[in-house]
Amino acid sequence: MTEHSTPYLLAWRLVGRSVVIVGGGSIGTAKAETLLDSGARITVLDPTPSARMQDLARQGRLQIKQRRARPTDMVGVALVVAATGDSRTNRRLRRWAKPFGAVVNAVDDVNNCDVTVPAVIRRGPATIGITTGGATPAGARFLREELTQLVGDAIPETVGPLFEQAKAARAHLRERGEYRYDYAAWRQLYFEPGLEAIRSGRPAAVDEVRRRFEAEFAGAVTPLRSGSVTLVGAGPGGADLITLRGARALGTADVVVYDRLADPELLDLAPPAAERIPVGKGKGFGTTQDEINALLVDKALAGNKVVRLKGGDPFIFGRGAEELEAVSAAGIEAVVVPGVSSALGGPALAGIPLTDRRLASSFTVISGHSAATSDPCIASLAASDSTLVVLMAASTADALSQRLLDAGRLASEPVAFIHAAGTDAQQVARRTLAEVADAGCPFPSPTVMVVGPVAASVGAPQPDVTAELLLHG
Ligand SMILES: C[S@@+](CC[C@H](N)C(=O)[O-])C[C@H]1O[C@@H](n2cnc3c(N)ncnc32)[C@H](O)[C@@H]1O
Repeated sequence: MTEHSTPYLLAWRLVGRSVVIVGGGSIGTAKAETLLDSGARITVLDPTPSARMQDLARQGRLQIKQRRARPTDMVGVALVVAATGDSRTNRRLRRWAKPFGAVVNAVDDVNNCDVTVPAVIRRGPATIGITTGGATPAGARFLREELTQLVGDAIPETVGPLFEQAKAARAHLRERGEYRYDYAAWRQLYFEPGLEAIRSGRPAAVDEVRRRFEAEFAGAVTPLRSGSVTLVGAGPGGADLITLRGARALGTADVVVYDRLADPELLDLAPPAAERIPVGKGKGFGTTQDEINALLVDKALAGNKVVRLKGGDPFIFGRGAEELEAVSAAGIEAVVVPGVSSALGGPALAGIPLTDRRLASSFTVISGHSAATSDPCIASLAASDSTLVVLMAASTADALSQRLLDAGRLASEPVAFIHAAGTDAQQVARRTLAEVADAGCPFPSPTVMVVGPVAASVGAPQPDVTAELLLHG
């Protein structure tokens, strides 16, 4: 295993498969204990196994061969647990195992591992695995101890009947040809009331919950309670520019519907099993707004917690209002988590104070698309001393600048462009209005354009900012 890979957790069915533990000391014995319930046929190789190992052998739960390991011990073996405490021996065992396709777990010796074993928390038949990919077994164990406390508060140890009855219900529904993986119905009709019964110390009531669930399941085409939609502003660029509230909403999402402007790293905040749906939408390509609205409604009606992750702030040129309207019209709970708009964050990240009181008394945010062609306010904007912040200006900056010049702004008016604000690729360029009217925007989308005297400000130097300064008098 390479050091930087992210381990992929699997649950391995070992019933009837052969597992060899090399080393029957205290560590090998602890490994044997965790394997006993797996249904594997366990053989321990050690000339002097521990007393507990010998006791387990007497009970018929495993077999001991009181000798050292040999290459032929690997034939027909699924898993070799190397609990020798000696890296050279582990390496040799792995070499022997390879031709027979046996997978090796060398305890606390990640370089000789095909697989590492997670620390686990058990609740009935459910197992929660915690792994650091072998980087720090003590770290995994520490986390397990901390999490056991948390899990203990939420899910009592007595939760077993909830899962056992769920298994029975699944079998009954299959027999009747009514089974389907309808998570919302399972959650709302079975797991929530069942867990409540267990928490209130009435495990026997789970049986009744199961019976009612089986009776209601076939008719529960629409779950009792629909999900929700949270419009989350991702901030202007880098993943660490989202708000804490937005990050928390992502952490509990069942479905994330995301824009191309939202940093892809943010998707890591959602649970691994969450569905991630890209809806790239730009000038002339991607999913239509009607399709996005319908997707949000459908996913929420199916009982999911949907996070609609949008670049910057959801309501600043983000069509968030239409999404909110569609979701609310369908009777679905809708919440908005604001984000830092690129209109504010972009200039700030470039050190441009939009309302430096010595240079401007206000700022106005406009869309390059409409301002370059149709915006009737352009004359009054040009006449004011308001700083203009233009979004979506990459392809329209020249036409817009020409309109501002025609309406009376000075040819020497400073203009700044901030491209990919907040990301490692952030770039800043400064021009005059006349230069922009002539040559347009120097960057592709996404770029924020700032027009006005404040655009010449250098401000505090920002990390990762390439400031291309072209100051004109
Ligand atoms: C459809 S608007 C969405 C604006 C977004 N809701 C916000 O509040 O930032 C897209 C425009 O936002 C600007 N933009 C968004 N993210 C940006 C970034 N990281 N750097 C520069 N401009 C960005 C660009 O002008 C882009 O064309």
